[in-house]
Amino acid sequence: MARRRKVYEGKAKVLFEGPEPGTLVQYFKDDATAFNNEKQGIITGKGVLNNRISEYIMTRLSEIGVPTHFVRRLNMREQLIREVEIIPIEVIVRNVAAGSITKRLGITEGTPLPRSIVEYCYKSDDLSDPLVTEEHITCFGWASPSELDEVMSLALRINDFLYGLFIGVGIRLVDFKCEFGRLYQNDDVRIVLADEISPDSCRLWDIESNEKLDKDRFRRDLGGVAEAYQEVARRLGILPEGGPRDLKGPAIMQ
Ligand code: TMP
Repeated sequence: MARRRKVYEGKAKVLFEGPEPGTLVQYFKDDATAFNNEKQGIITGKGVLNNRISEYIMTRLSEIGVPTHFVRRLNMREQLIREVEIIPIEVIVRNVAAGSITKRLGITEGTPLPRSIVEYCYKSDDLSDPLVTEEHITCFGWASPSELDEVMSLALRINDFLYGLFIGVGIRLVDFKCEFGRLYQNDDVRIVLADEISPDSCRLWDIESNEKLDKDRFRRDLGGVAEAYQEVARRLGILPEGGPRDLKGPAIMQ
């Protein structure tokens, strides 16, 4: 059987050519990295859980009118997506101080922010994704001013919706990272949510105990990483059919 053509391989996902022009297959790996690839590991079952969690979140978001690249889940580790031109910016929205902002500004982890903050990082492994301002983004043409307005307003809508969704299952959405792409359709270009939204790209704390249910467990060697991702899926009501036994999933497709 002919193997599909690999279009791109990142740290946690692989993109393959899709069945129709303008589509791609996004494959979720169990590989985890942190601190710009300095730390590497495997979280068994992560790919299966992130595929399912990201499907769930993208589907809920599209129901409230947020355009996304997601088309449908294909199997345990793969989803069909629309091919987009990725805007090379990581958009971070923060509700509570954690991670890099605590170090950069000397704020204690866990401090609620007076209002949600949007930050931008330029996607460059060589430069370790530096924090940039809107000025850099528009000056260097990574996105136009109107695209950036759209990105910021979508990111804040996503935050408002996900904050409530997670509160409903006893989880505080501390912060998250999202990416956007340009979807070219006929003569039209639209900005859509791309990549993934999962415990790899969010900080999720149990509302009562503040227990971390996200990739910080891997970053900080706290243990129980897969169990934490599973707990997020369980609370969202989407543990993969068959439960944890199925989590290893097919090692490779085709
Ligand atoms: P930070 O506190 O390290 O800047 O991270 C903010 C949020 O963005 C956190 O939820 C983790 C997520 N994130 C990614 O998904 N990918 C990255 O490369 C980085 C640096 C952060």
